Amino acid sequence: MDIAGRNALVTGGAARVGKALTLALAKAGANVFIHYNSSAGPADETAAEAKALAVNAAIGSANLSDPTAGAKLVEDATAALGPISILVNSASGFPTDSLADVTLDGFHAALDLTLASPIFLTQACAAALPEEIDGAVVNITDVKTHKPYLDHFSYIIAKGGIDTFTRAAARALAPRIRVNAVALGVILPPPGEDDFYAEKLASKIPMKRVGGSAPVAAAMLALIENDFITGEIVRIDGGSHLE
Ligand SMILES: NC(=O)c1ccc[n+]([C@@H]2O[C@H](COP(=O)([O-])OP(=O)(O)OC[C@H]3O[C@@H](n4cnc5c(N)ncnc54)[C@H](OP(=O)(O)O)[C@@H]3O)[C@@H](O)[C@H]2O)c1
Repeated sequence: MDIAGRNALVTGGAARVGKALTLALAKAGANVFIHYNSSAGPADETAAEAKALAVNAAIGSANLSDPTAGAKLVEDATAALGPISILVNSASGFPTDSLADVTLDGFHAALDLTLASPIFLTQACAAALPEEIDGAVVNITDVKTHKPYLDHFSYIIAKGGIDTFTRAAARALAPRIRVNAVALGVILPPPGEDDFYAEKLASKIPMKRVGGSAPVAAAMLALIENDFITGEIVRIDGGSHLE
């Protein structure tokens, strides 16, 4: 797929990793619709940075704790830019809980935001995409789905669902829409934690450093551009899965 001239929707696209993904798509020539929840100011700034790359950019908010909000978001993005043929599902929560203390409400909340919203956004995008246009979806998952966190129990179960969803959607939407994922390791410190926190984690992985957003963006672009990859999950983790 040639990204130039495509219209892309990036959830959580205003800040942190999502911002890097948005700007990588803009640099590759895609028009970008930047979804945000609380980051209105950063969304405006990211849109301005995208426009400086000579593409169209627009922003729209939705609280994706309500998975039904995705349909309106796709409508808004399509109204702003035209048919959305690239969807990047990056928005996520990162709640702390364990098998011992997880509550049903907390579990449902994690599943709604981190698993159900990407599913129903993908459904809405696929339904809205005119038949003659092909598409690509990139989900953002976590390398820890294979050796799950003990203290982010609901989150990692939801991301495990994203892994299965990536394969299920790749089958369901083939051949017109490809669905892949990138599984992240130590990329940025979690919100509220400092660089030292991430560096300490990174000291235990083969590459001995924090990844930063650039390798994630490079992998996302490669998965979108390569027309013969679907249902794949690429680890961007500095080899942490080997430890
Ligand atoms: N950072 C890492 O090292 C790492 C490691 C493994 C996996 N990941 C995954 O990579 C992706 C991006 O990582 P990140 O660290 O940049 O994520 P993040 O900062 O934790 O969250 C990304 C975005 O999710 C949005 N979001 C949160 N709650 C929302 C809600 N209720 N409705 C709509 N949007 C909501 C936020 O948008 P607003 O700012 O607008 O509120 C936020 O900018 C996530 O899927 C994350 O799980 C990251």
